[in-house]
Amino acid sequence: MDEKTKGRLTMRVVAMPADTNPSGDIFGGWVLSQMDNAAGICAGQRAQSRVVTVSIDGMSFIRPVKVGDILGVYTYVESVGNTSMLINVEAWVRRERIGTREKVTEGKFKFVALDDAGLPKSVPPEHELPEYVRENLEFGAG
Ligand SMILES: CC(C)(COP(=O)(O)OP(=O)(O)OC[C@H]1O[C@@H](n2cnc3c(N)ncnc32)[C@H](O)[C@@H]1OP(=O)(O)O)[C@@H](O)C(=O)NCCC(=O)NCCS
Repeated sequence: MDEKTKGRLTMRVVAMPADTNPSGDIFGGWVLSQMDNAAGICAGQRAQSRVVTVSIDGMSFIRPVKVGDILGVYTYVESVGNTSMLINVEAWVRRERIGTREKVTEGKFKFVALDDAGLPKSVPPEHELPEYVRENLEFGAG
């Protein structure tokens, strides 16, 4: 397959029988939840604080996920506003753990950085970030 993953591998998990819909494929809400979780890790490290999901755009379910597939979620910070961050998220599967790799979903998750009181706070500039976060910014505008 020519298409390449975009972003950093943020989470991997095996799709289990308990996550299926009545047709036997993996429930879309489970995949969405994994993507939200991974995007939250990416946004929380960029913000260096707690974050909340404020919107999800351009969500596409491209191919089904099957029991036994390894789901890998790739994320990067596409842009930063004042208190918000747009995180690009792609989910890929490795079929039955060892087969071909295919992109199954993609979307753009917007998060807002919050202070300890739960109020929106400014996202810090890149130069204030620890090295491990700055390394990840190569995938997007940061
Ligand atoms: C996120 C939240 C704190 C923002 O509160 P708010 O009063 O709208 O705050 P602001 O108006 O200061 O907006 C904060 C940022 O969010 C953005 N924003 C707010 N509502 C948005 C929306 N519906 N879509 C996209 N962006 C939005 C604003 O543009 C702003 O970005 P910027 O600072 O980079 O310019 C509030 O909407 C909230 O608590 N939502 C629930 C979040 C949640 O519980 N998520 C889990 C899912 S259940």
